[in-house]
Amino acid sequence: MNRDDFLLLNSKNIYFDSAATSLKPKCLTDALAQYYNNYSANIHRSDYDISLLAEEKYENTRLLVKNFINAAKTKEIIFTSGTTDSLNKIIFGFFANYLTKDDEVLITKSEHASLVLPWFELMDTKGIKVSYMPLNDKYELTLDNVIKSITDKTKVISIAYTTNVIGDIRPIKDIIAYAHSKNILVLVDGAQSVAHMPIDVQDLDIDFLAFSAHKMLGPTGVGVLYGKEKYLNNTKPIIFGGGMNASFDMYGKRVYDEIPMLLEAGTPNIAGVIGFGEVIKYLNNIGMHNIYNYEAELKKYAIEKLKQVPNITIYNAFTDSGIITFNIQDIFAQDLAIYLNKYNIDVRSGSHCAKILPTELKIKNTCRVSLYFYNTKEEIDYLVKVLSNPNIKNEII
Ligand code: ALA
Repeated sequence: MNRDDFLLLNSKNIYFDSAATSLKPKCLTDALAQYYNNYSANIHRSDYDISLLAEEKYENTRLLVKNFINAAKTKEIIFTSGTTDSLNKIIFGFFANYLTKDDEVLITKSEHASLVLPWFELMDTKGIKVSYMPLNDKYELTLDNVIKSITDKTKVISIAYTTNVIGDIRPIKDIIAYAHSKNILVLVDGAQSVAHMPIDVQDLDIDFLAFSAHKMLGPTGVGVLYGKEKYLNNTKPIIFGGGMNASFDMYGKRVYDEIPMLLEAGTPNIAGVIGFGEVIKYLNNIGMHNIYNYEAELKKYAIEKLKQVPNITIYNAFTDSGIITFNIQDIFAQDLAIYLNKYNIDVRSGSHCAKILPTELKIKNTCRVSLYFYNTKEEIDYLVKVLSNPNIKNEII
């Protein structure tokens, strides 16, 4: 990787908030500019050259995504506006019809708002039950706790592969195998995992996977919903309009397209999807195994160094992802983030959209450093130095 590929890496900022959104390489911004400057036409509806070129590149990204996660078919890849949109599309388009009153969905207290709130809506409108699988004393989800939580009514397990505050990587393959043996479907939030490790949806036997381009070097406003063909074929659109119908008449008779078009109504984020294709090539060139290994090593290094910071509590020292959640005694998390910003260090503070987790952590707000492959040991050394400042409290007050 060349640090010059990321203009922000050459600024004074030290960026430790890649779980919120990653930095963007030049190949993305070049692709966006090329589309807008040279062939900015709509797709799937015209017969002239620049439209056909845009369509070819858009569809080529679908193929790149299919290969990136090893889906069986390109039609199993639906472009959305992001993970939240993907999860809403599948929960309201598929599960709202699949589930009936008193059916149970299992989640955990670690999940992000986008994987909790749609289920709460179905709780109100369909009378489904949402139950929590317990976390262990390290806030992780174990297969044992999944097995113990399943009841006769359990129809869905809905969990992040890697969580966004604790950063634990769930034993997803074993969970899915067990769930399937009980006829339970598994919906996986891949927002914090697809960017950081190789993912093979066929090997893992994932039923549904949602993720965002913007956390993996891509543009904001682009996401992916992967689903097994047999389930997507039974998914109703929740957005209707152009691009998803073959015909309709004044009496309401209508014929809709098949997937993937069925679930992509309206003009999509054409530039964004094309740019997303470029960053997938970029990630492929580095290699997802290399990214995973580098981040694991960096995380280990960061934990060893951060442990030496006076008065620090690290909530997830043992987890494998590049997410590190911590507090410094007697300093409010947001004050700490503002202090770090004075030293040009970007971290996130707060509850990080996982608003039930504080009941487990017994603390409402934390600071979060989230690493990506462009971070370095030198940046971590600088963070540790700034956090170890003996005057830290005076500077904050
Ligand atoms: N879900 C994103 C995060 O964890 C925004 O920061």
